[in-house]
Amino acid sequence: MATSSSSPAWTPSDWREHTALQQPEWPDPAQVDQVRAELTRLPPLVFAGEARSLLDRLAAVAEGRAFLLQAGDCAESFHDLTAINIREKLKVILQMAAALTYAASLPVVKVGRMAGQFTKPRSQPTETVDGVELPSFRGHIVHGDEPTEAARVADPARMLQAYHQATATLNLLRAFTKGGFADLRQVHVWNQEFVANSPEGRRYEQLATEIERALSFMQAVGVDMHTVGLHQVDVWTSHEALLLDYEEALTRRDSLTGLWYDCSAHFVWAGDRTRQPDGAHVRYLAGVNNPIGVKVGPGAEGSQVLELCEILNPNRVPGRLTLIVRLGADRIFELLPPLVRTVRDAKHPVVWVCDPMHGNTFLTETGRKTRDFRHIMAEIEGFFAVHHAEGTWPGGVHLEITGDDVTECLGGGDNLLEEQLDTAYTTLCDPRLNARQSLDLAFRVAELMRGV
Ligand code: PEP
Ligand code: CO
Repeated sequence: MATSSSSPAWTPSDWREHTALQQPEWPDPAQVDQVRAELTRLPPLVFAGEARSLLDRLAAVAEGRAFLLQAGDCAESFHDLTAINIREKLKVILQMAAALTYAASLPVVKVGRMAGQFTKPRSQPTETVDGVELPSFRGHIVHGDEPTEAARVADPARMLQAYHQATATLNLLRAFTKGGFADLRQVHVWNQEFVANSPEGRRYEQLATEIERALSFMQAVGVDMHTVGLHQVDVWTSHEALLLDYEEALTRRDSLTGLWYDCSAHFVWAGDRTRQPDGAHVRYLAGVNNPIGVKVGPGAEGSQVLELCEILNPNRVPGRLTLIVRLGADRIFELLPPLVRTVRDAKHPVVWVCDPMHGNTFLTETGRKTRDFRHIMAEIEGFFAVHHAEGTWPGGVHLEITGDDVTECLGGGDNLLEEQLDTAYTTLCDPRLNARQSLDLAFRVAELMRGV
């Protein structure tokens, strides 16, 4: 079924007729054309049928029968493409999903900010590093992160490197999730050493033991564990569809249905800075048939959000459109209810997701960008409370996390302090929850889902 009613005139390139914010200044347009031509020839990263399967799962979320866990790096790095990095991130996502599924007895749709999250929108065109003013870092798909003028020159060849890194990441993700590593019977193996000794890690061990017991019980009463689908798990990929030269080149027509899909990921979204209804990003997303998202920040009016629903999901297909709200802990009770009412009363079947990260970022006195675990939880609690009050479904959470033992966000189970931020602050862009903080958060969200 067609999910968008993009006019027959829609083409992958007609975003070029609209204002495209946040695009790099490529020094050599001819080289960009060359790279785009090459990307267009390369195989798609995902298939249309997969995007349709995710759409079905998200339809269940829209209808309150499942929960979405979308998580991963703020910006993936060209520097750490390793099996360990991918595996550790996957482990945390699987652990969080196990905690949520078990507590809420609901399927959890797992979507990584992985295999393509290489671009960053920026509020300011320049940033100052060690007293030197430089073009702001826009992600490894555009240029290097090193604080020099030379590194910050946009290089289109990086789009090819991003494509190849996404391919390698997705390949390993598929191997792990289809090859047995993500089998629920491995639930104990996902607990990492540096997590296992923390209170969250011990709580997870208990949960894993309970899950194992339940699985043994099912086996004992004669359920054939090979046929119940435990062996293979679906983990989908997603990123912000920001760099339109890249997305356009990976847009393909599905041979089965004749519809257009963005084959760079299963799910793509428009960021808060590029969601103008008449802008290039919305024009692009309106024509691809993937499930898509839009970030909704404090500047969004209800009427504008409704206009986006009409443009991006005119046929009101459940699962097609996810609204990822990121309003900030201190404003969620003021700003979310009118948005929810407007969309609900217009009967748009959206997936409501809470991004408790991007509305709660602040600078410490020493200039470190950070987020406090308490603010993050407060926004999620507000999100649940508003949806309960309005009779709508709090469909999921969208998080910046890593499987590494980093010190980027404050608080959490081990109460990370401001003076500890420098110990392992490795993010390329925004501060991420470390594995312990992520698991802590999942247990708390699970309690909110159970209403305790
Ligand atoms: C992001 O998700 O990394 C991001 C930049 O978010 P937003 O568009 O909501 O600011
Ligand atoms: Co971010």
